[in-house]
Amino acid sequence: MGWHTEKEKEKEKDREILPKDVVIKRIKRENKDVRTFFFEDALLDVRPGRYVMVWVRGIDEIPISLSHKDAITVERVGKTTESLFKLKEGDSIGIRGPFGNGFDIKGENILLIGGGIGIAPLLYLAEVFGEKKKDITTLIGSRSRETLLFLKEFEKISKVFVSTDDGSLGKKGSVLNMLDAEIFKQEYDMIYACGPEKMLRSLLEFFNEKDLLEKTQFSLSRIIKCGLGICGSCCIDPKGLRVCRDGPIFYGGEILNSEVGRYERDHTGRRRKV
Ligand SMILES: Cc1cc2nc3c(=O)[nH]c(=O)nc-3n(C[C@H](O)[C@H](O)[C@H](O)COP(=O)(O)OP(=O)(O)OC[C@H]3O[C@@H](n4cnc5c(N)ncnc54)[C@H](O)[C@@H]3O)c2cc1C
Ligand code: FES
Repeated sequence: MGWHTEKEKEKEKDREILPKDVVIKRIKRENKDVRTFFFEDALLDVRPGRYVMVWVRGIDEIPISLSHKDAITVERVGKTTESLFKLKEGDSIGIRGPFGNGFDIKGENILLIGGGIGIAPLLYLAEVFGEKKKDITTLIGSRSRETLLFLKEFEKISKVFVSTDDGSLGKKGSVLNMLDAEIFKQEYDMIYACGPEKMLRSLLEFFNEKDLLEKTQFSLSRIIKCGLGICGSCCIDPKGLRVCRDGPIFYGGEILNSEVGRYERDHTGRRRKV
């Protein structure tokens, strides 16, 4: 990381261990179960693909990726996200981080593939590539037209293809149905994916068959507790890669033969089928 002084090193440690009080400046409703929370205070060392540990006081602390340099986009799925949704503009949360490696940002022709809430971290990435005037193609999929995230935002900076499970917008079925000859008419320098694990597993197999794994980066999700690489709750078999520190972004080749898309672990560490 290239530390310069002991003081800077200490400051960085504090940011990882002690939650910083961050005021919510604005809350944007994306759909019934998804909100974007914009922060009043700027975070240090932000970049696409990194995540923060969000502490909702009295409830729990959860990992959430940055969807902009100053915001997170959250899907309501359980107790902590439910409590987060009860907060108002002007309220504060505790933030540790940002953590994780972030996406390796490179290439001229870029393909982004996102499913469900996995679309959120790709928006920040698209914004960064957009500023650099890169050629971006985006495939986004969701359950339905109502739940599809950030269509307008992606359309401003990229060529967009849409799929929905119920066919209410774009192609019917998963984003995988869009990986046809039309999409691959042009060659991509780098392909970035984030979404449900079954989708990621299918993409791993698809790009492996095409011998393109070295051009793919995947954003993974596991139960993250410490975020410091110590507790082991986020490790993936068989190499023991820690999603919190070694990831959450991995090149396809690193995780092709891993548990991804096959099984994961719950909060107690017990294995469960994906
Ligand atoms: C690196 C990383 C980045 C993430 N980015 C985002 C994001 O940008 N937006 C967003 O909405 N969510 C994101 N998540 C997932 C988010 O952390 C979980 O949805 C959240 O922890 C659920 O907390 P809860 O208390 O509301 O739900 P809980 O009551 O804890 O659980 C509700 C359900 O969600 C499952 N779940 C809980 N945590 C995870 C997890 N880490 N991975 C997969 N399933 C889980 C539980 O098993 C259960 O089925 C990310 C996770 C990781 C690891
Ligand atoms: S969350 Fe503790 S080691 Fe990754």
